[in-house]
Amino acid sequence: MSAFKERDLFPISTEILADGTLTIAGCNLSRLAKDFGSPLYLYDGETIRANIQKLKGAFSNYYPGNSAVAYASKAYLSRRFAEKIAAEDIELDVVSMAELQIAVKSGFAPKRIHFHGNNKTAEEIHKAIDLNVHALVVDSMDELMFVEKIAATKNKCVKIWLRITPDIRVKTHPHIETSAAESKFGFHVTTGEAKAGIQYALQSPFFELTGLHCHLGSQIFDPVPYRITIQMLYDLASECGYTPSELSPGGGWGVQYSIKDPVADPSDWINNICSAVVEQCNKNLMPLPKIVIEPGRWLVAKAGVSIYQIGTKKTTPNGLRIIGVNGGMSDNPRNALYQAKYSAVVNGKITEKKVFPSRIVGKFCESGDTLIEEIDLPETDRDDLLIIPVSGAYQLSMASNYNLAPRPAVLWLESVGNFELLQYRENPEESFWWA
Ligand SMILES: Cc1ncc(COP(=O)(O)O)c(C=O)c1O
Repeated sequence: MSAFKERDLFPISTEILADGTLTIAGCNLSRLAKDFGSPLYLYDGETIRANIQKLKGAFSNYYPGNSAVAYASKAYLSRRFAEKIAAEDIELDVVSMAELQIAVKSGFAPKRIHFHGNNKTAEEIHKAIDLNVHALVVDSMDELMFVEKIAATKNKCVKIWLRITPDIRVKTHPHIETSAAESKFGFHVTTGEAKAGIQYALQSPFFELTGLHCHLGSQIFDPVPYRITIQMLYDLASECGYTPSELSPGGGWGVQYSIKDPVADPSDWINNICSAVVEQCNKNLMPLPKIVIEPGRWLVAKAGVSIYQIGTKKTTPNGLRIIGVNGGMSDNPRNALYQAKYSAVVNGKITEKKVFPSRIVGKFCESGDTLIEEIDLPETDRDDLLIIPVSGAYQLSMASNYNLAPRPAVLWLESVGNFELLQYRENPEESFWWA
């Protein structure tokens, strides 16, 4: 058996067996859940590598200049995961001291790293400068002055990008939109701060302004705002008499979380970015920059799967089934934070008729602790395994210890019987917060 309705949401190497259970990279999911406990998170190595190649291939098809794919590590990072992706020909976007340290320890040379963030600490700025990261991405005029002061104490010329905010709206949830006038991120164009920032950076002996950056938000399916932004960045650069040698339109391309979501090919995104840059360079008589995209979600979301064990089941007065699982908002806060939607299957019952409208809730003391608001499921029993695809991005990286829940184990699956533990399941008795 090879097909089921939700198949396209799962990692490339997923197979369904005759008994309706799943394997990924030849590894039996029931077996893994038994051996490592649940909730359990899995990453499929083949899917991540294929995704990287897909984006790089699109650049080869559509862009005559240099380009790089940088993984936005906030989507998920751990030491062993970083080692896996450091082996690929990609760069890395980090936003904290710990992400930076893990990246370097795991084999990312600092020249492959961009350091982002809207309120970097002095320690983070010192560290990024001392390591000579590829770009310190400065977020505001205030931060520009702060970085300059630190650079001056070291008498160093620091390679920077400026993060520019175009003050336009993109279609996504407001919590993950970063392009609008009220955004906390970046030098805003309409206040004049973006222009002033570029002009200031160009005259300072402590800065080498190597590029301009913009990140519009996340879970975006429309390439048009990227085109508008690229034009805006070139208008600004041209007004300031500045030629960027690097241009980063950020990440943000959306993924399909349920079969009802649109399917958007990232080649279309990259094609639009590349053609807009070429158009603007021709118009402004500028050489082509190196384009650096920073996808997080698109690179790793579909490679990840989460597995929960079903516990309680009850029916509300309006006929909705409430199914409780042994994880919830502590390992996946996305529904609680911004009503993110998911699909799910019950292992061993994947092809059974889905006749019960159900809500999947977690075990934590909060009414908003819901994983899936409404989904049709077959009859379920205590101890069935609920498998949620597209679990690889912004779940564990935003996990908490709410109700002192231990964070789950995470595995990297490579091939039959070949998997590695990326993260141990936390043991509260060994954690400092327990003592
Ligand atoms: C600066 C920057 N780049 C890239 C990303 C990655 O976005 P996504 O995971 O939607 O591709 C983010 C996400 O917040 C970001 O802030």
